[in-house]
Amino acid sequence: MDQQDILQVGTSINIKRTDGRVHSAIVAAVNFDLRSATVEWFEQGETKGKEVDMTAITSLNPDIKIVKPGERYAQEPTTIPQTQTSGNILQRNPTRQSVVPNVRHNNGFMRSAQQSTRVSQNQVLSNNGHTMPSSNDSVPNKESNLPTSRASVQNIRRSNVLKEVEKLKKNREERRQRQAEEKAEKEAFLQLAPGNPHWELLNMIAEYRRGLDIKPLTENDAIEDHLITVCVRKRPLNKKEIHRKEVDVITIPSKNQLIVHEPKNKVDLTKYLENQLFRFDYAFDETCSNEMVYRYTAQPLIKTIFEGGFATCFAYGQTGSGKTHTMGGDFNGKNQDCHKGIYAMASADVFRLANSPKYRHLGLVVSSSFFEIYSGKVFDLLNNKSKLRILEDGKQQVQVVGLTEKVVCSVDEVLKLIQKGNQARTSGQTFANSNSSRSHAVFQIYLRSNNNMQKIHGKFSLIDLAGNERGADTSSANRQTRMEGAEINKSLLALKECIRALGRKGAHLPFRVSKLTQVLRDSFVGSNSRTCMIAMVSPGVNSCEHTLNTLRYADRVKELGGGDLQTNTLSDEQQGDGDLMQLRSLNENDMTPEMLNFHQVISELEVAEENMLDNHKQTVDDLLGTYEKAVSLLRMTDEVTYDQEAYCKNWEDLIDNTLAYLVRSQEIVADYKAKMSAEEQLSRKTKRK
Ligand SMILES: Nc1ncnc2c1ncn2[C@@H]1O[C@H](COP(=O)(O)OP(=O)(O)OP(=O)(O)O)[C@@H](O)[C@H]1O
Ligand SMILES: [Mg+2]
Repeated sequence: MDQQDILQVGTSINIKRTDGRVHSAIVAAVNFDLRSATVEWFEQGETKGKEVDMTAITSLNPDIKIVKPGERYAQEPTTIPQTQTSGNILQRNPTRQSVVPNVRHNNGFMRSAQQSTRVSQNQVLSNNGHTMPSSNDSVPNKESNLPTSRASVQNIRRSNVLKEVEKLKKNREERRQRQAEEKAEKEAFLQLAPGNPHWELLNMIAEYRRGLDIKPLTENDAIEDHLITVCVRKRPLNKKEIHRKEVDVITIPSKNQLIVHEPKNKVDLTKYLENQLFRFDYAFDETCSNEMVYRYTAQPLIKTIFEGGFATCFAYGQTGSGKTHTMGGDFNGKNQDCHKGIYAMASADVFRLANSPKYRHLGLVVSSSFFEIYSGKVFDLLNNKSKLRILEDGKQQVQVVGLTEKVVCSVDEVLKLIQKGNQARTSGQTFANSNSSRSHAVFQIYLRSNNNMQKIHGKFSLIDLAGNERGADTSSANRQTRMEGAEINKSLLALKECIRALGRKGAHLPFRVSKLTQVLRDSFVGSNSRTCMIAMVSPGVNSCEHTLNTLRYADRVKELGGGDLQTNTLSDEQQGDGDLMQLRSLNENDMTPEMLNFHQVISELEVAEENMLDNHKQTVDDLLGTYEKAVSLLRMTDEVTYDQEAYCKNWEDLIDNTLAYLVRSQEIVADYKAKMSAEEQLSRKTKRK
């Protein structure tokens, strides 16, 4: 009988955990009165322990004997019949022992290999070993080949036990110290963020950031030359968010990287961070000014328009992420300082270059326009928001008919135009940003040669896009909102593909899909076209999902080569639908077949609406003509001798004619109404993405 076969402090036994796992542990204390033992083991860097019932020990460790203190097991095990059992005596399973090879340990005595692994895995013991026998004289030595005397074996064992007890003690102290440190850290953190319910998340992010070597973009960093520049800008938490104690989950560790710390829960509800890294051409953190953003985004594109090219700069992002702040200028309450927006900064540079020795000889005239695309309709922001029509000629040249284009000679004049346009954009809104977030604002700077004002030398389009999350409004209960959402969704997908096509010369542009891409068509086709997209993100944890959507979109804009090239083989009538199909084939994840169908129905509805409004206008003109003819006919009858027959014929013809075009108008209204109800029905049963 080996000392290790007895349940006592230091014995390695098998235990079963509540999750069903069976593993070894070291006995730290034995309580015979309660018929239990305390065991400890080492797991994931710390010592753990639990109380185990003797019955459980018995069933899991049939070869362990339970011997009460003072009770000597004087009988040699060999004298105990294999069948003998009593309440607290267990025997090792002889068969198990026989198959486990004995190995010699460097402390000079033999132990089964299995036992040795168990002990070495755990290496923990408690020092409260009250069950250690005071004398081991009675412990039988059944291993006849022991090189040392029984007393020296006992001493070695005891010193091993002592060592393990000390190790256990050390582990426990370390664990306590760690816990104390964590507690102090938490308390310190709670003081920094008093009452913040998200302290755990704050803490995890702070810890993550501590491990980073943060090197933000500086003015000394090189300005790179790209055909398509894609960058990201993070705005600071605003007052409302700070008041709500929102957590900033965005880190910009370097000049071109951004990390989103997305909070997640494990199955056992433990919180953890999923840190997603994105890389762009530049990443602007919350301390970056508009000037800094301008320096790396729109400014490098100014020379393009002087060299006869087209430049575009887009501000993309969810509502409230800082698009208008960046393009239009800093807000001070509701007042916007237009000087500090990209529109104004770009205009100032255009005047500077136009008057520079390099370009002065070109004799270029600078002019500007400012319009808004709202629910697929174009409104002139420099002419009381009058509604404008878009026409495409046989050569696919797109024109915004009647758009105001003002010649400007100084930055001040441009600023006045921007202010006028901004006022028009926000007028009539019940609360700030309600409509502006659903419309795309397009500010354009044209360069024309004073010899030939008909021809555009170069054009810079600066676009403050609609809030991208509005594209998801397609399941709204309100048709107007649904149509706005569909238009935004479609236009942003089409925009992405048109920009990507810039990087793949010869690719077909699905520009007919939306008004936005239609009006910007010339910016995507020229051989000297350059684009910059600034993806704006809000830092708060509540915006996490939208932020990730924005970043994925921006990622796709930059990622070239995706999708097949398609050449123009479709007829003009097929083009519109073809573009939509192409858009869908390039964005299958973002557009379900149901959504494609919905877009087609919406497009038909839009065409029917335009048709109805055109007809209405025509009808008004015709009615005016009819009215004049009717009045003069009536005057005829004032004559004493008027030709009654001729009168009757003319009057009848006029009535017939009027009825005919009114019936036609009626049919057109009926067609529109039918399309409206088809859309209504479809929207009720459609699940979209
Ligand atoms: N970089 C920034 N620094 C300081 N404040 C900012 C910054 N960006 C945005 N803001 C503030 O955040 C608020 C929302 O910004 P802004 O109106 O530009 O958002 P938006 O993206 O245009 O939203 P919408 O789509 O609704 O029009 C404004 O009060 C603005 O002043
Ligand atoms: Mg805005």
